[in-house]
Amino acid sequence: MSTLRVKAISSLHAEFSVPGDKSISHRAAIIGGLSNGVCEVSNFLPSEDCLNTLKAMRALGANFEIIEELEGYGPTKLRIHGQSMKLKAPEAPIDCGNSGTGMRLLAGLLAGQEFTSELFGDASLSSRPMGRITVPLAEMGAKLETLGDKPGCAPLRIHGSKLKPIDYDMPVASAQVKSAVLLAGLFAEGTTSVTQPSVTRDHTERMFAAFQLSCRTENNKISVPSGQMPESCDIIVPGDISSAAFWLVAAAAMDGSRLLVKDVGLNPTRTAILKVLGRMGAKMTEILHSSTGEPIGNIEIHGAPLKGTTLLPEEIPNLIDEIPVIAVAAALAEGDTHIRNARELRVKETDRITTTVENLRKMGADVEEFEDGMIIHGGKRLKGANIESHGDHRIAMAFAIAGLFAKGETVINGTDCINTSYPGFAHHLDAIRHERTNPEDFNLPVITK
Ligand code: S3P
Repeated sequence: MSTLRVKAISSLHAEFSVPGDKSISHRAAIIGGLSNGVCEVSNFLPSEDCLNTLKAMRALGANFEIIEELEGYGPTKLRIHGQSMKLKAPEAPIDCGNSGTGMRLLAGLLAGQEFTSELFGDASLSSRPMGRITVPLAEMGAKLETLGDKPGCAPLRIHGSKLKPIDYDMPVASAQVKSAVLLAGLFAEGTTSVTQPSVTRDHTERMFAAFQLSCRTENNKISVPSGQMPESCDIIVPGDISSAAFWLVAAAAMDGSRLLVKDVGLNPTRTAILKVLGRMGAKMTEILHSSTGEPIGNIEIHGAPLKGTTLLPEEIPNLIDEIPVIAVAAALAEGDTHIRNARELRVKETDRITTTVENLRKMGADVEEFEDGMIIHGGKRLKGANIESHGDHRIAMAFAIAGLFAKGETVINGTDCINTSYPGFAHHLDAIRHERTNPEDFNLPVITK
């Protein structure tokens, strides 16, 4: 089991870009694999989660070639050979690793095929709720079995069936559930609709549009007709704002610092983190380079003394993955930060309410835990501690950031999981810890094939 050791730094002046967006990379692998030709994907995220989805699509017949790869990881630029909506039965059960997105989206895709398939994952994924997708998919006529020891959990056995369209009122605000139903809808007979209780990330809808698939959004209802063929196209994946969030918090909380994150995704369904840091006192500018498809731009942030804030209920789905690091920012801020209406955190890679509160307390922060979140009474000096990631990438990275502010050394145990979303995090952390300012020191080694 690997560890990261972190000590406090006194300044942060850096310019770099973070690896590709995880959500968009999964969708590029899946929809590219369904398309009617060759798709070149640039800045693909070579993290374990996305590589598992890429391999799953290969097992279903959509092969890929590597054009460039991140040394020691996998493709950052690749060519996917789309199968014109005709997938083949996989020869073995498909491994989704740690990825809820991979498993739920693939389950939607597999529900309407003419074969039986199985999806499995690691211990964390095997304890996460799958009823949220098996219920609507069963309503469409799919036959799904949950084979896990825990009721309603993976492994999943999917007996592909003829699907009928549904008009689904989604009880939880989940982009994974929405996307599973929409992908199944491509294979149903008629128009499938999903109504979400509040706005969730819209990468599937944008990726459908890039592949010229008709998909309508009216208020919170998204509809997709069946019988369509995705037109192959090239995709440029923006940097992942959820990965950038770690450094944005580090810079925001360090008075006098300056950070420029380049070529990052600025999709408005993902940028609530910027609003929150702004309310906490960080000074920020966003410069949009391109707004077709997925918006991409730069974020420049200057640190300032932070103050507490309240996360709005409608912001929660937009920044759900950033909450562990927002909680760290809150501990560093003066005053109280209220994070409520966030029960979904309990069914992420870990129960992120428990793992965030436990580790913040170890570092000396004053936190109250609630069933649906936490209140952080900020402003106490953090002290170095022995932190457990519990195998959760975002917990490991959030507490590495806390370590940059703590008195004494912070040791984070179990950091291999970081590779599920941010290959190269340790390299970037090393450059930040050594207070490097040369952009070249942040470059990750890419090999052209
Ligand atoms: C994701 C959606 C979110 C998020 C996850 C990625 C996606 O999950 O937490 O990391 O790519 O659709 P839910 O929408 O299920 O909350």
